[in-house]
Amino acid sequence: MCGIIGYLGSHEAAPFLVEALKRLEYRGYDSAGIATINNGKLERRRAVGKLVNLSDLLVHDPLRGKSGIGHTRWATHGEPSTRNAHPHQAGPVAVVHNGIIENYQDFRAELAEQGIGFDTDTDTETIALMVRHYMDQGDSPRAAVARILTRLEGAYGLLFLFDGEEDLLIAARKGSPLAVGHGDGENYVGSDAIALAPLTDRITYLEEGDMAIVTRSSIEIRDANGEQVHREMRKIHMDAARVDKAGHKHFMAKEIAEQPQVIGDAISHYFGSGTDLHLPGDGIDFNGISRMILVACGTAYYACLTAKYWIEKLAGIPVEVDVASEFRYREPPVGEDAIALFVSQSGETADTLAALRYCAGKARTILSVVNVPESSIARESDLALPILAGTEIGVASTKAFSCQLTVLLIVALEAARQRGRLDADRQAEIVTALRGLPARLNLALDTEAITERLSQELAEAQDVLFLGRGQMYPLALEGALKLKEISYIHAEAYASGELKHGPIALIDQNVPVVVMAPRDPLFDKTVSNMQEVMARGGKVLLISDKAGIEAAGDGIWRSIEMPVVEDLLCPILYAIPAQLLAYHTAVAKGTDVDQPRNLAKSVTVE
Ligand code: AGP
Repeated sequence: MCGIIGYLGSHEAAPFLVEALKRLEYRGYDSAGIATINNGKLERRRAVGKLVNLSDLLVHDPLRGKSGIGHTRWATHGEPSTRNAHPHQAGPVAVVHNGIIENYQDFRAELAEQGIGFDTDTDTETIALMVRHYMDQGDSPRAAVARILTRLEGAYGLLFLFDGEEDLLIAARKGSPLAVGHGDGENYVGSDAIALAPLTDRITYLEEGDMAIVTRSSIEIRDANGEQVHREMRKIHMDAARVDKAGHKHFMAKEIAEQPQVIGDAISHYFGSGTDLHLPGDGIDFNGISRMILVACGTAYYACLTAKYWIEKLAGIPVEVDVASEFRYREPPVGEDAIALFVSQSGETADTLAALRYCAGKARTILSVVNVPESSIARESDLALPILAGTEIGVASTKAFSCQLTVLLIVALEAARQRGRLDADRQAEIVTALRGLPARLNLALDTEAITERLSQELAEAQDVLFLGRGQMYPLALEGALKLKEISYIHAEAYASGELKHGPIALIDQNVPVVVMAPRDPLFDKTVSNMQEVMARGGKVLLISDKAGIEAAGDGIWRSIEMPVVEDLLCPILYAIPAQLLAYHTAVAKGTDVDQPRNLAKSVTVE
């Protein structure tokens, strides 16, 4: 996901632009650039690779000027290169863009007919060329931008800077978030509050279709119909400003360590000091529905798969779980008898947002479980349930996942209570177990030294299998995703019972098999699976509690002991060893843990 920043200030823009781009690095990128009005003229500096390359360039070839825009690019059209890096410029027009313009080839054809050539392979360049074309026809900058916006198809967050216009930024948003920051005699634009936090805590989020005309003294916002509108100015929580590693080597390590605290915060938020649940708004009515549809991507999808076990077992409601990119195009029947629930850390994932929009007007209720309350998915839900994980910078989701699970379990409890399947005593028992969970999570974190040692061995593997049964199967999927996305080791997960139906052919002494199995009612079945693996020379790394490790016997290659918790809470607890294993394996391999190759923190394009 690209990062955007704009600055109309009273100081040199370049340092502020680069600092803001550093705060957007977590989104993932492969090149970066800025443009300012330098001595009255629009000028750019761009560099491929990490931001340090742009900073070096600016040391040797500085850019002055108090008006500027900047961008970190996660390549969609055209390879990562200086040539394709933003800002793109056409004459007096410079633009930065987050998103994909789906009809950009039409513009290239139109421009080519006029003999206009192209310097890049990007969709964004055509926007700059078309705006220049309109200005050549006499349009003002804002008229030219308004005109092209009516023709763009796809998703965009756009920010324009114009030659000779030292006190003007024009921003536009459709499908990719943009925020305007309010300063004192200054104003700013950014992809999110994190980028703007060093500059201001007063933020206005643009809505779908909005265009903002920003000067140092004014912020004019027009909606998709060109009508001037007022958008709320919010004070951001300062934790959005606290974007530092708090002494950890990586953001991911910090965020793993934060889980006891943030999960405790989530539990207190929803249960207060008692055992009665406090849901926002009018709550959720689970009566009279025949099914729930859960939709998400990646880690959030695995949280939904886990929730399926809880909701069906506790509330007796059939649950269908889908990856958003499949759901949105399958056009499944969705009726008034369904509650549709969308899980998304960023609240901006394009596929999940599209799936939500497919269900809007069809499902009886649109719920979301999000980490960013002002995000698109939250705003377009009937009810958004915050997970309160705090800002998550590491591309690999950790505390957001465990907080998603916590809130999804709370949803399952509420559904069970409303449908008369959970009496007050049992609810109190589970809530008490939830209140004790942070302490257990701390015990799980205490296994880090053991896990770090194991990871040195795991880092040698080419392929790793993860196994889990029942509610632990989605955890196996999540463990495999964590390992592969940050250590780049091929990892796959299977329901333990599936091993004999093919995957066991992969087993030999070179393939570690990570088994995530508390000593629960299904454990004995999993022991058989482990024995099948060991009988073929496979190396089993068992993550279980003390009783489970003892019951598994001596043949186990390695083990990580977890504390005992209420069965229902095991998926939340076992997220920690899965995360620590992936983290330390990635550190052992020397990969870029917080910004793994090819990945972005939030995928706001299809
Ligand atoms: C998880 O570690 C990944 N970063 C990725 O799978 C992520 O969970 C997925 O892209 C969904 O993102 P969202 O929660 O912001 O919608």
